[in-house]
Amino acid sequence: MSKIFAIASQKGGVGKTTSAINLAGAFSLRGKKVLIIDMDPQGGVVFGLGLKKESIMGGVYDIFKENRNAADIVHLTSINNLDLIPFGSFSLPDQNKIYKNTDGENSHFLNQIREISKKYDFILIDCPPGSGPLTKTALEIADSLIIPLQCEPLALKTLPQLLKLIKTIKSVNASLKLEGILLTQYERSSPISKEVLQQVVNHFPENTVIEVIIPFDDGFSVSYKIGKPLTLSETPIPGASAYKLLADEIINGEITKN
Ligand SMILES: Nc1ncnc2c1ncn2[C@@H]1O[C@H](COP(=O)(O)OP(=O)(O)OP(=O)(O)O)[C@@H](O)[C@H]1O
Ligand SMILES: [Mg+2]
Repeated sequence: MSKIFAIASQKGGVGKTTSAINLAGAFSLRGKKVLIIDMDPQGGVVFGLGLKKESIMGGVYDIFKENRNAADIVHLTSINNLDLIPFGSFSLPDQNKIYKNTDGENSHFLNQIREISKKYDFILIDCPPGSGPLTKTALEIADSLIIPLQCEPLALKTLPQLLKLIKTIKSVNASLKLEGILLTQYERSSPISKEVLQQVVNHFPENTVIEVIIPFDDGFSVSYKIGKPLTLSETPIPGASAYKLLADEIINGEITKN
């Protein structure tokens, strides 16, 4: 049975897209069939998977606005088992206008995603920052939510907004599960990273913060530029190993949490 993950956070730049791309890479390595849906109008996944902007023939936007079928909009990538539904429009239209189709609803989109999800083991939805209409749509369709949180002092300031997001989830989709908070860009030698980790673990109820921590690794920026997930690198890299470990836990159905 397929499982749909939304990767979302209030704050930008915390590693949502990096997590989607690298978890997807790790799943594909394990022979799992995976689809990334890019719900972010920034359209970053296209580049992170090495696709050219010119090769994009529609996307999320077209499913919403033109009532097109998701199956016609799936783009194959050069990576085995890894497909993409890109956002599709590189202009930045008002999210509210995208969210509802011309009849004022998103049921066509939700039905299309439900239908296509049957062909995959995992679907990863990369959300834009914040809890706007596109993120809410992703939460409506998802089984589970992963919230990446960057290990830096400002992260703690976004916690109240984060908690609000978690609360709103339940009103959108009662069966949505908070899979966990994923700490990213952790710098082992930095006292700030350690402090943030401790405070986040103390702040949340038990079983909320994912034990696997994604270290800071310059390799992520480099791999994004060359259009290949770091998890597909042949040499062992700490950042990639962390995502692979998390992917294995997801495949085995048991994510270890603090
Ligand atoms: N673990 C990491 N170590 C080092 N750099 C990282 C790590 N994770 C992400 N980055 C870098 O941080 C930047 C932001 O990451 P990313 O684009 O994944 O964040 P995002 O949450 O998707 O941002 P946005 O909210 O804008 O969509 C990128 O340049 C990325 O390469
Ligand atoms: Mg992003």
